[in-house]
Amino acid sequence: MSANATFSEPWSGTLTHLEWPSTPRLALITLINFPVLAILLNVLWQLLPRPKSQPPLVWHWIPFLGSAATYGRDPIGFFRQCREKSFIMQMPLLQYGNCFTFILLGKRVTVTLGTRGNDYVLGGKHTQLAAEDVYSPLTTPVFGKDVVYDCPNEKLMEQKRFVKVSLTIDKFRAYVGMIEDEIKGYLETDPKFRVYQMDDINEWGAFPVLEVFSEMTILTASRTLQGREIRERLTKDYAQVYHDLDHGFTPLHWMIPNLPLPSYRKRDAAQAKMSAFYQSILRHRREHPEEHQDDDVMASLMKQRYRDGTPLRDHEIAHILIALLMAGQHTSSSSLAWTMLHIADRQDIQEALYEEQVKHFGTPDGGLRDITYDELRDLKVLDAVVRETLRLHPPIHSIMRMAHEDIPVPATLAAPSEDVTYVVPKGDIVMASPIVSQLDPTVWEDAETWEPLRWYDDKGVAAQAHKQYNEGEKIDFGFGLVSKGTVSPYLPFGAGRHRCIGEQFAYLQISTAICALIRRLELKLESDFPKSDYESMMVQPLPCKILYRRRKFD
Ligand code: HEM
Repeated sequence: MSANATFSEPWSGTLTHLEWPSTPRLALITLINFPVLAILLNVLWQLLPRPKSQPPLVWHWIPFLGSAATYGRDPIGFFRQCREKSFIMQMPLLQYGNCFTFILLGKRVTVTLGTRGNDYVLGGKHTQLAAEDVYSPLTTPVFGKDVVYDCPNEKLMEQKRFVKVSLTIDKFRAYVGMIEDEIKGYLETDPKFRVYQMDDINEWGAFPVLEVFSEMTILTASRTLQGREIRERLTKDYAQVYHDLDHGFTPLHWMIPNLPLPSYRKRDAAQAKMSAFYQSILRHRREHPEEHQDDDVMASLMKQRYRDGTPLRDHEIAHILIALLMAGQHTSSSSLAWTMLHIADRQDIQEALYEEQVKHFGTPDGGLRDITYDELRDLKVLDAVVRETLRLHPPIHSIMRMAHEDIPVPATLAAPSEDVTYVVPKGDIVMASPIVSQLDPTVWEDAETWEPLRWYDDKGVAAQAHKQYNEGEKIDFGFGLVSKGTVSPYLPFGAGRHRCIGEQFAYLQISTAICALIRRLELKLESDFPKSDYESMMVQPLPCKILYRRRKFD
């Protein structure tokens, strides 16, 4: 009998005929039923009794995927729902409290919420909770080898120290003018500000928020931190290279670091090109010192030595500069975008900001003189506006570490009963979400409202939180003394050994940009206030536009 006959007459009844077709059929049936079987087993597994010391597992139907979709769409909503009440098919089921575990694409993630939860993660020992294991798959292909999370933590601390010493007040004094100059130049030349360029103070134009603030941020950061050569190339051939690198810095590239897709190939090619370009500048600066009197971060890094006396290698300097560019870009541009949106929305605050400019910088002929770093620090409305935006919209919603050993959770954070303590098992990702504390209605009055006035009261909750964040016990993790501050309900720049080193620069960059814009433009929203987009790398507004009109005295 031929094989053809077997497949064309499966009903003929001989043993051979029955066996041959049943194998593919069985395979097909198994394949169709596999998801159902997997879901069933997953449900049964979740119903089995679990060790009391393990934090509760968030209920999920689909194995491997777990709660990825809910977390990815709206992490804050997901955290709150888990803490307060969890639902299965609309039925309230469990209240997990401040410590729970969820499944994220096959990984176990244990979340610790509230100020104690933040303290647990951000104040944890590096030997127990490591950042590099979680962040490296995202950052190393973009930043490059041997820096930040592609090196031992002690080396990262030294690299942070190198950068910090180059961010001095003297440099900041010079940066203010450069930033204002870039913003002014952008308004005067970019086609998105055509109406501004027409010099007609009665006509309103509209600009796309994300695009404009992203471009302003990269121009101001490269002019100040990155150095002359990078700034010059940015508007020419480097815009595309940066674009390709940036498009490799997404949640997808984090979760699945190597896929055979064009965006991955372009990311790798852009990293190599950018790294080679920085290294060629380094060589040129070394070979022609007479041509380079630059006083930028690169010049400073060239002079630094690790504790054992070795200088930084060229590729390390290149990769630190790429890391700074990427670390500052999304964080600062989304913060600037949110701030300007709120200013456009709140005419009273916009007026107060403009009045503040006139009061501090007004000239007898009705104009405004240049902004200076020292005076910037005295602008109370401006300061309140930036702080309030970072409270409501910190760009990083989840801070993660990998547990290198079983770590007990303090009873004050979460304990199922008096005689049991939760233990986060080795291998779990541990996650804090300071934004949950920054929006906690038990701490902040009218927590969801953008209200800069709350920062005016020197004895109010906001001022106390700020004090707790920046004053009190100081620790040196290897990059200078930083305030421990992990228990403050306000942590926009993180805390502990991984605290941001770009904080002062970011404040300066955002504040100067606001001044430069508010002096020249009147703003209002084009439509309703945009919602948050949590699916991008940082929490940013969904695409929207701001309406603008040139100010009379600009
Ligand atoms: C770390 C926020 C701007 C460079 C961090 C962390 C946060 C943060 C929350 C801690 C991450 C963690 O613990 O896992 C912000 C915000 C910014 C901003 C809100 C702007 C509004 C910048 C800028 C730079 C920068 C402009 C560079 C000039 C860094 C670096 C780290 C860091 C190098 C240290 C990473 C580590 O030690 O693991 N930032 N950042 N940031 N940030 Fe920023």
